[in-house]
Amino acid sequence: MNTAHTHYDPLSRALHWLTAIAVIAAFILGPEHFGREMHQGLDPATRLDIVVHESLGLLVAALTLLRLLWLAVRPAKPQFDMPAWMQLSAKATHGLLWLLLLAVPVSAMLALGTEGHPLTLLGGIRIDELPITANSSLASLADWGEVHGLLGDVILWLSGLHAVAAIVHHVALKDGVLRSMLPQRR
Ligand code: HEM
Ligand code: HEM
Repeated sequence: MNTAHTHYDPLSRALHWLTAIAVIAAFILGPEHFGREMHQGLDPATRLDIVVHESLGLLVAALTLLRLLWLAVRPAKPQFDMPAWMQLSAKATHGLLWLLLLAVPVSAMLALGTEGHPLTLLGGIRIDELPITANSSLASLADWGEVHGLLGDVILWLSGLHAVAAIVHHVALKDGVLRSMLPQRR
């Protein structure tokens, strides 16, 4: 059978799993309450957990931009027969996940910039003043650190729900939805 009808193309699959691993690792390695510690004057460059969190988070942003470019030109994704409500909820979940994959890193840049914290990345990279967000009037709109933490929790819950749905497809409905994102059998 033509694999285009059963599987996502290899690049979409690779980018999906790399992104999933990076999001989960950024969340797990995300140190609790480090926003508060930075408010109290902690230099984030002195904490490996913060540097790793920010580096993984920016990797998610870069992978997502690459995926969105690929989405515009890639081969058609596989289609499965399922009720309209199921198609619609899959579409809505994917749409929200795409939005969150962008909104989580953007809110982090807003938090760092508006609160005057540096961006600190692996390899000793440090940017003290972030373009656009530093000292901007966006600071008055929200507590971006709070917003970022909340969106970080939401993306984890939603991707958990999305993973459960994929497993239900595999175990109960026995269709090829989960397999379409997994490596092809030779
Ligand atoms: C998918 C990627 C990411 C996820 C899932 C995520 C998740 C989280 C969560 C759950 C928190 C709250 C931690 C707590 O205090 O309990 C947090 C805080 C924070 N994250 Fe991320 N994050 C991501 C990407 C990023 C990026 C790209 C950056 C910076 C470039 C970043 C910088 C921060 C900062 C500075 C805080 C502290 C915010 C504050 O309270 O002022 N994160 N993140
Ligand atoms: C943070 C974790 C995750 C995120 C952000 C995420 C996000 C996404 C996105 C945006 C898509 C659409 C992909 C595209 O069109 O190229 C997708 C598809 C898919 N994901 Fe995930 N995912 C995550 C974790 C998982 C996990 C753990 C599983 C399985 C247990 C999974 C199974 C699937 C499957 C089977 C599809 C194809 C579904 C379909 O076409 O209806 N994902 N995911």
